[in-house]
Amino acid sequence: MAGISDRPFRMIVRSFVPDLPIVTEMISCHSLVGRHKNCLRNFDNYADEGNVGAQIFGAVPHLMADAAKILQDAGATWIDINMGCPVPKVATRSGAGAFLMRDHKLAGKIIDAVVRAVQIPVSIKTRLGWDESHMDWADLIHIAADSGAQFAALHGRTRAAGYTGDAVHPEISDMPIQIIANGDLATVADVEDMISRGYAGAMIGRAMLGRPWIFGEILGTVKSPINIGDVALRHLDLMVEYYGERNAVPMFRKHLAWYSAGIPNSSEFRTKINQITDVNAIRQEILQFWGCVANL
Ligand SMILES: Cc1cc2nc3c(=O)[nH]c(=O)nc-3n(C[C@H](O)[C@H](O)[C@H](O)COP(=O)(O)O)c2cc1C
Repeated sequence: MAGISDRPFRMIVRSFVPDLPIVTEMISCHSLVGRHKNCLRNFDNYADEGNVGAQIFGAVPHLMADAAKILQDAGATWIDINMGCPVPKVATRSGAGAFLMRDHKLAGKIIDAVVRAVQIPVSIKTRLGWDESHMDWADLIHIAADSGAQFAALHGRTRAAGYTGDAVHPEISDMPIQIIANGDLATVADVEDMISRGYAGAMIGRAMLGRPWIFGEILGTVKSPINIGDVALRHLDLMVEYYGERNAVPMFRKHLAWYSAGIPNSSEFRTKINQITDVNAIRQEILQFWGCVANL
């Protein structure tokens, strides 16, 4: 997830479930192949990360292939191609992401080029279709399968729906490759429901915000109550290490808002941390808010 599943977040998630398959933020093939320095993720090394899918977006097959090769060399265990992002910068202006649901021929070319470029599995992530009158996800999945993709994640909404309404997870009995369900899934019951309906797995997005241990809860490996303050402190340290103090503090505020959501006095806490720029002061506020103990 863009702005969320960066290396620090992946490490926090992994601290609860070490072998969880996790997907990176979407990575622009242009930025990656151009080795743009302003984007740290262009230089991530996945060798110590376990099972990580690197997600790329773009509309130029040979650049997508080059990007996939770079990510394979950096240690990604599979390549995921974004065919669902509705953000105008991606979908309408660059003809990538969800736009590929409107151009299946180009989608096929991109998948084919990426599959040929790497030895690791390739997947796609898509939505039900462009809008209510174009619910042609099944066609795109067949094209993906014919082009060599090994599986697909399907977000049960159209591009036009954005994030509104409830996700609908369609019948998938005739699909040529495995499908991972995505959209509004958050509990063991949700995951079991998807598996019982033939989905190969469940992909969880927003339910992990402020709850990176959710996968451990679902898999039954995390049972004891979580010390959220301690998780937040570890997460902050990883952000500082990765982005540097100056950048990490403003970027971490949204995570603190999610970590503290629903806890009494959290709005005062958020107001306070939104005014603080010093990382040690943020740490003190976290300690005070959650009343936890840590070595500063
Ligand atoms: C902040 C945010 C960033 C996202 N970034 C990406 C992304 O980079 N790539 C992608 O395929 N989907 C992205 N998504 C979509 C999610 O992966 C997922 O398909 C969607 O949120 C529905 O699943 P959920 O209900 O489990 O969140 C993003 C969603 C949000 C809210």
